[in-house]
Parts: sequence; C-alpha cells; structure tokens
Amino acid sequence: MKEQLEKIYTEAAADIEKAGTVKDLEDIKFKYLGRKGELNEIKKGLKDLSDNDKKVVGSLANEITQKLESTISEKFQNFYMQELNKKLEGEKIDVTLPGQYVPHGHVHPLTSTTNEIVSIFQSLGFSVAPNECSPEVETEYFNFDMLNVPKDHPARDVQDTFFTNLAPNVVLRSQTSGAQIHVMENQKPPIRIIAPGRVYRNENINARKNNFFHQIEGLYVDKDITFGDLKGVLNEFIRIYFGASRPTRFRNSFFPFTEPSAEVDVQCIMCEGKGCRTCSGTGWLEILGAGMVDPNVLKGVGIDPDVYSGFAFGMGVERLAMLKYAIDDIRLFFNDDVRFLEQFKG
Ligand code: PHE
Repeated sequence: MKEQLEKIYTEAAADIEKAGTVKDLEDIKFKYLGRKGELNEIKKGLKDLSDNDKKVVGSLANEITQKLESTISEKFQNFYMQELNKKLEGEKIDVTLPGQYVPHGHVHPLTSTTNEIVSIFQSLGFSVAPNECSPEVETEYFNFDMLNVPKDHPARDVQDTFFTNLAPNVVLRSQTSGAQIHVMENQKPPIRIIAPGRVYRNENINARKNNFFHQIEGLYVDKDITFGDLKGVLNEFIRIYFGASRPTRFRNSFFPFTEPSAEVDVQCIMCEGKGCRTCSGTGWLEILGAGMVDPNVLKGVGIDPDVYSGFAFGMGVERLAMLKYAIDDIRLFFNDDVRFLEQFKG
C-alpha cells in the first residue's frame, strides 16, 4: 500500500506539474482528492491493516493528501490571478471614449407651465392647497351646489359635465372651483391658496378644446379684501408671466359663485391684436375667470360675509402655455408627439 501511495503521489505531482489551467487543476483535485478519488479509496482499505501498518500507511496517506492539497492550491492561486489579469486586460475600458447616448425624458410643458404659475403665486404669498382639497372625482355638492350653481344651471347638463356611475351626484369635476369649498370648510380666514389640477368637460375636441384640461384655482379671503386687490394680484401675475409688454383687459362677466365677476383677456400672441383665426378675429384671448367671492358662498361654509370678503380666480393652464409658446392646437399637449415635446427640453 505504501508503494501504491507513493505511485499515486508521483502521478499526481506529475499531473499537477503538467496542468495548464484552473480547469486542469480542478480535474486533478477531483481525480486524486475527491470523495471517490484514489487517495480515499486507499484510506478505505486501512481498516483491514494491522494497527501498526494502519498508523504508518495512514499518516503517509495524510501527508500525501496535505502535500497535494497545498501544491494544488498554490498553483490554483497563480493560475487564477493569471487568468483574471488576462480577462481584465481584454476588457480594458477606454475612459476617454465618448459616452453612449441614452435618451431620457423631461418635464411636460404643461407641468413646467403649472410649476411656473404656482411659483409666481407663491412669490405673491399664496400656498398650494393640500391634495385632499382638490379631487378630480368630485360630488355635485362641491362642484356645483356650494358654489351657488342653481340646480337647473346649464353647466350641470350632461352635455358639459361627465357624470359617473359610481353614485348619483358623483362627477368628474368640471372646474377646480370645488377646491375653494374644501379649503373654506377646513380653514378659517385669512385664506390665501391656489389649487392646480385637471378638469373634465364633455366637449367636441378641436384645436381649441379638449375634453380634459388643466386649471389653477386661486382664493384669497380675509377682512377688507376688495376688487382692487384682485386686479393688483392678477395684473402682477400677468406681468411676471408674460413680461410687461403684453396688454390685458378685464371684461365684465358672470359666474354663479362670484359677484361681481370678470374675465381677463390677453392680447392675442399670434396676430398681436389685429384679429386672426386663433382669437376668432377679436384680437384678444381669454385666460381666466375671476371675481369677488359671492356672499352666499361664504355663508354656505360658515364664513360671515359681513366680516370677511375675498376674491377667487381660475385660469386655464393650456391657454397660458399656448399663448406663451405660440402653440396653435391644444391637442399637441396630449398626443405624445416627441417632435413637439422635445422643443420644451430645458
Ligand atoms: N371656475 C370658472 C371656470 O371654470 C373660473 C372661475 C374661477 C371664475 C374662480 C371665477 C372664480 O370657468
């Protein structure tokens, strides 16, 4: 058995010597040192030997095992490092090469317009109302009733308002004005908030109208708020948003929840007031509705109209973006054409 062991050792040592790769070494390890390897076979035979022989052969077997293990692992280390270096050499990265272009998205022009308008009003002392004050799925109570809109008002008509089948009286909001009610039911004056969001109307879609669009609602309620404050805030907003050069006009109007009411027009950016298709020949484009909060609305939410007064406004985000960037079709915002959207990278 001793000879057998020595023979195994010589063979194994020669094999190791010849080995050229990590894989060769693994095979050798398996052949000689594996569970079913040659050394183990001999160790299994030890039990039939005399005690003395057991000792001598056993310790020789162990010695050989250890020697082989250590030469294999030494060589393994070398090979491993060599192979790793070779691999790294092959995968060398030239950090001076130009990078690969990865297309990435950017903020949608309606989002950036909204952000811009919001930050203008923030600079004028308004804060954004909490989200829960501005749900898109709304009840008639908030969208109409509390805004002093009569039960038979044509705006409630199914031709304008999307009614849902979630429950009777549940609508997709047709205006952000419901946010006024949510806020006033939850907060005492002074109140100075804006509420941006999406609204829905059952319109025939064309270059000027889509069946959903975006508004920014504003509300200011405190003691001694006057129409002068309304004009001051809105003029200041328009001056910052459009720059001083764009003429505006306040036009007498009607909304059930404001009294008096006004609509604000900006001179048409396409024709500069001469009259064109975009402004239907008038030279003006309407950008917002506004007015003094109707005393009935204040009473409804428990605010005493003899002590407090306020103004409210609602502006169309698409309109404001179209005017600023000379966009002549509202549908461009919604049909995901990257040739359009990429112009607003920035
Ligand atoms: N909610 C009105 C609309 O959608 C705009 C408006 C808001 C008017 C607030 C007055 C006050 O047309």
